[in-house]
This record gives sequence, C-alpha cells and structure tokens, in this order.
Amino acid sequence: MTTHSQSLLFPDLLEIIASPKPVNVASVPQRSPFRYPGGKTWFVPTFRHWTATMFPKPKILVEPFAGGGIISLTALFENLVQKAVMVELDDDIAAVWKSVINGDAEWLANRILTFELSREAVINEIKRLPRTQKEKAFQTILKNRTFHGGILAEGSGFLKYGENGKGIHSRWYPATIAKRILNLTTIADRIDFRCYDGLKVMQEFSYRRDVIYFIDPPYTAGGKKAGKRLYKHYELNHKQLLCACETLKGDFLMTYDNADEVKKMARSHGFQMRLIPMTNTHHATMEELVIGRDLSWMDAFPAVHEPQAEYTTRTIKKRRCNT
Ligand SMILES: C[S@@+](CC[C@H](N)C(=O)[O-])C[C@H]1O[C@@H](n2cnc3c(N)ncnc32)[C@H](O)[C@@H]1O
Repeated sequence: MTTHSQSLLFPDLLEIIASPKPVNVASVPQRSPFRYPGGKTWFVPTFRHWTATMFPKPKILVEPFAGGGIISLTALFENLVQKAVMVELDDDIAAVWKSVINGDAEWLANRILTFELSREAVINEIKRLPRTQKEKAFQTILKNRTFHGGILAEGSGFLKYGENGKGIHSRWYPATIAKRILNLTTIADRIDFRCYDGLKVMQEFSYRRDVIYFIDPPYTAGGKKAGKRLYKHYELNHKQLLCACETLKGDFLMTYDNADEVKKMARSHGFQMRLIPMTNTHHATMEELVIGRDLSWMDAFPAVHEPQAEYTTRTIKKRRCNT
C-alpha cells in the first residue's frame, strides 16, 4: 500500500508538503464543464499534496461520487494517476461523461457554441424528450448552466439575477464550456466511467493496493431535505460507506460536512480527521471535514486542525462492520 510514512525516505517530497500555500482556487485550472453544487475545485491543492507524498505512485483513482469530477480530471491532466474510475448515479450527469468518452465531445461542443440562449429557447430545449445520449448531455449542460446554483434536482429553477443581474446568461460561457469539453478528449481514454452505485465500485477495487479513492458523498448537513435540494440521488447509507472504507487496501481521502454524527462515526472506525477551511459560494468561510487513515501530512497547512477534543480523545466504541 502507498503510505505517507514511506515519504520519509524521500526528502524532496517532504519539502513539497512542508511548504503549503494558502488555497487559491483561481490558480486551479477549471477543467470540468459543470458548475457543480458541492464541487471540490477548492480541494485540488490538498489533493495534489496528498498524492505527492505517495510512493510508489498509485495507478488508479476511484471517485465513487464523481459529480462534476474536478478531482479525477485534475489527477489525469496532471498525471497523478494513470487512470480514473468515475462513478455517478445521476443519469443526466452520466450522459455528459458518457458522451465525452464515447466520441461525442465535438458534437456537444458545437451544440453549445451554436445555441442561441434565451429563456424561451432553454424552456423549449429542455422540455423535449432527448432521443440520444448526446442530446440528453446537452440538456444537462444547459440546465446546469442556467439553473440556480447549477442544481438539477427536482424543484430547481432558473438563475434569477446571477452575476451582475445577467440572469440565465451569467453562467453561460459557450466558448469556455466548449473548450473544456474538447480538452477532455485528450484524457477520455483514461476515464472508466460508470453510472452505478459508488459503494459497489469501491468494493470491486478494494483488494488492490495500487488504487486510491477520493470520496465525496452527498452531504448530511441540514438533514435529508438539504441533500434532496442539491442532488437527485442524496440518500446514502453513511455507516456502510465508512465500513467500505475499512476494507480498502489502497489509501482513501474522504470529505464530509462538519457534522457531529459523521465525526462520531469516523472516530468509531479509528480514522483520523482534520478540519479544513473553505469559502462557499456565498463567500462565507466554513470548515469542511476530511477523513482518512493517516492525515498527519495535512498538519503542514497552518489553517488545518483536528476537530474538538471530544471526538479525538474520548473513547468511542469501535464500530463493527459486517463483512
Ligand atoms: C458532493 S457531490 C460530488 C461532487 C464532486 N466531488 C465534484 O467536485 O463535483 C455527490 C455526488 O454523489 C452522487 N451520488 C449520490 N449517491 C450516489 C451513489 N450511491 N453512487 C454514485 N454517486 C452517487 C450525487 O448525484 C452527487 O453528484
């Protein structure tokens, strides 16, 4: 298994993790065609640090809750892994990833470039029953870029004011989105996309030591209602997910909302936790929970700290997983 303690043998790697810079999201290449609710662009620098400490280099990244997929895309473009297994249950999102992988990127980019955006045109387009996967992909991109917060879940609606009062136009950058889609063709053959249950795919790879996992499940904060507002698929057995993590031979990194329930669960599995600051879409600074086996490398980030002592020192009964 690739471990962080092994990096002690490689001082150059240590230097990389000993000099973390504050997260500057603007410096992270935006490679995803989506603007994704709960998207992890802000986590990219941390993800890079994590993989930089690994020796030998992992071969495959499994992202069981891929969404907009920024972590997998970064890992492929920056050659942090050879291959990414991206898993997403939402068939609308899946249509985009499948179209890119199956050779329809050019068609999709063209459709985006030639679409004349107006409220009426969007309404007419999205009420049509798509006949092909690529048509469904186009509808998904259109909704994602014109709906409030990029949210596709039921009940979502058009951006009212958007940036500078530009309404539905405020996130529709046809040239940029088309370019991102076309760029993906250079890595498409290294993506193994599955519209499936992420937990099952984790189990499939669990015996492999050369695989790492970036796990970003739908959130629990605010209860089911909050999850339902953001994603079509929001219900998840979180206990089962943490049990699945225990079985993985490869290393994993999981991001979660900073909820007491989650911290108790993580602690009961003997996992480590750190809180990392991030700025949300409303420009408020919040802390997000990171869970893993050995997160000591994260202590090089000045703003990162362990959650309150009650979760780290109090004896919490060890959770038993049915195998
Ligand atoms: C927090 S979002 C992931 C965001 C992603 N990390 C990004 O940067 O865009 C969680 C995603 O998990 C998906 N999802 C929910 N349950 C799933 C399951 N059982 N298997 C695969 N995907 C699932 C949701 O549709 C949602 O897109």
